[in-house]
Amino acid sequence: MIKEKLLNKGKDIYTVISDLVQGTDIINLAKISPDIPCSDKLTELAIKYIKEKSVEYSHPNGLLALREGIAKNIKQRYGLNKSAINEITITAGATQAMYTAISTFVNEGDEVVLFEPAFNSYIPAIESNGGRPVFVQRKQPDYHIDWEAVLKLINTRTKLIIVNTPHNPTGAIFNEEDIVQLKKITSGTKINVISDEVFEHMVFDGQKHISVLSDEKLAERCIVISSFGITFNVPGWKIGYYVSSEELMSKIRKKQHFQINTINTPFQYALADYLKEGVDYNITNKQFEKKKQFVNDILKDSRFKIIPTKGTFYQLLDYSEISDEKDTEFARRIMDEYGVALFPLSVFYHDSIDNKILGFSFARNNKILTKAANQLLKV
Ligand SMILES: Cc1ncc(COP(=O)(O)O)c(C=O)c1O
Repeated sequence: MIKEKLLNKGKDIYTVISDLVQGTDIINLAKISPDIPCSDKLTELAIKYIKEKSVEYSHPNGLLALREGIAKNIKQRYGLNKSAINEITITAGATQAMYTAISTFVNEGDEVVLFEPAFNSYIPAIESNGGRPVFVQRKQPDYHIDWEAVLKLINTRTKLIIVNTPHNPTGAIFNEEDIVQLKKITSGTKINVISDEVFEHMVFDGQKHISVLSDEKLAERCIVISSFGITFNVPGWKIGYYVSSEELMSKIRKKQHFQINTINTPFQYALADYLKEGVDYNITNKQFEKKKQFVNDILKDSRFKIIPTKGTFYQLLDYSEISDEKDTEFARRIMDEYGVALFPLSVFYHDSIDNKILGFSFARNNKILTKAANQLLKV
């Protein structure tokens, strides 16, 4: 008998909303992809290498020059030596990296601890490999992690803990104490940690991104995932990477080679050159912080309560003082009556917890943000 995997899953929220708004004038603030242009220099490099390198397959672990650029960045930021040869691999985006890492480590009956609200790709990847997601709810009002609650859920079946900082969609970020607690909980166990850090360069209000790589000992059991798509506003390129110990990476690579074999060559050359010239990540950071400020300056006069976001390009809005409709129904009404698509937060909880919160991406041009925010003022 053929085992049916994931057939009970519906479409994810981003697809549902894009299907609903297609062919209408509705402003889709729920979509992931930014409409902020990427750097001209990076585009020029991509064009150059599409002409020069399209006929080449790249090395299965990714172009070495690009891996070296990543290793250099890690050394500069965390003082950590990571081998470009053995400990860094290029992927077809963070989603593939996440799926491959999960499928490398999770077998039938294994438990994976993850935190809700959770990005939509984690649970399907766990379940299609026979794993069981074990849910911990982030605590309001700032969506921090209750590590004591995590400790109670750890047992001999726990294979992985998946963390995400800065967190999509709440914008919560790790602090030093989170690193201490994560290290304490996992030390002396065989648990590995996958850390989704795709928003590492979007952290606001003078705070800094605290990676699991900032602790050398903790880093030994971690697989850190990042995305050039998110970092450089080129999500359509679908290119990212993971970093781990040599031991973990050798297992992951065996899986990746048969899942995807190699990653597209021209964009790897373009990114390698781009990193070599030196990137000022503060520019991206400032750009997104300004956008957050811009849209929130308009929304502060609305009836929505703005939930502070410390990172990512997502903003949550509490509407509990406006309506007691379910968030899915309220989101639908905002879309139909005011022409703006926002996402309901309940879709990121396995049991659809409804805290009367909607969210949106501010990675959009200011004209669209102004138009959408002015519509929300009417609600
Ligand atoms: C938390 C998180 N992880 C992973 C991804 C996927 O990144 P990629 O486009 O590189 O697959 C996203 C995309 O928005 C994300 O928000």
